[in-house]
Amino acid sequence: MTVAIAHLSDPHITTGPLAGAPSEGLNRALGRVLALDPQPDCVVITGDLVDQGSPQEYKILREVIGSFPLPLHLTAGNHDDPKALLEEFGGTRFLGGATGAHYKVDYPAFTLIVLDSKVPRSAGGHLGAPQLEWLDGVLARRPQNPAIVCLHHPPIAVGIPFLDGMRPGRR
Ligand SMILES: [Fe+2]
Repeated sequence: MTVAIAHLSDPHITTGPLAGAPSEGLNRALGRVLALDPQPDCVVITGDLVDQGSPQEYKILREVIGSFPLPLHLTAGNHDDPKALLEEFGGTRFLGGATGAHYKVDYPAFTLIVLDSKVPRSAGGHLGAPQLEWLDGVLARRPQNPAIVCLHHPPIAVGIPFLDGMRPGRR
């Protein structure tokens, strides 16, 4: 069985005079995803969903993605505020029905796992022991299925110095 996942990142949705371009950009990107043939099993947006982490920005994000017809999952980045993210999207399909910013979604052919590497007031990422233990448990649960692990901060060196300086566990 073929699995296809569309990966988008860093829409940085915002409010005010500069609000138009990020919203239009994300809308356009989602339009291109919808035009893919075959269509992907799901879409993941791996953080910096919004720019300032404000509740108003998440409302605009919801306007852009609210009626998107394919499964779409959100990941928190360093510009996000997980609390405001959860207030807008907790319990919805955009977080796999979860009420936390790390969650998993069971697809028939794979497990999609979303981690929350956000550290308050820091650009760098971190995954604490409780979340890593949770990840171990999820990975052990369906070992016959591939798992796709999504997080905003690069978990391995990517060769771009300013991004490598933000890797989880390297603060
Ligand atoms: Fe970021």
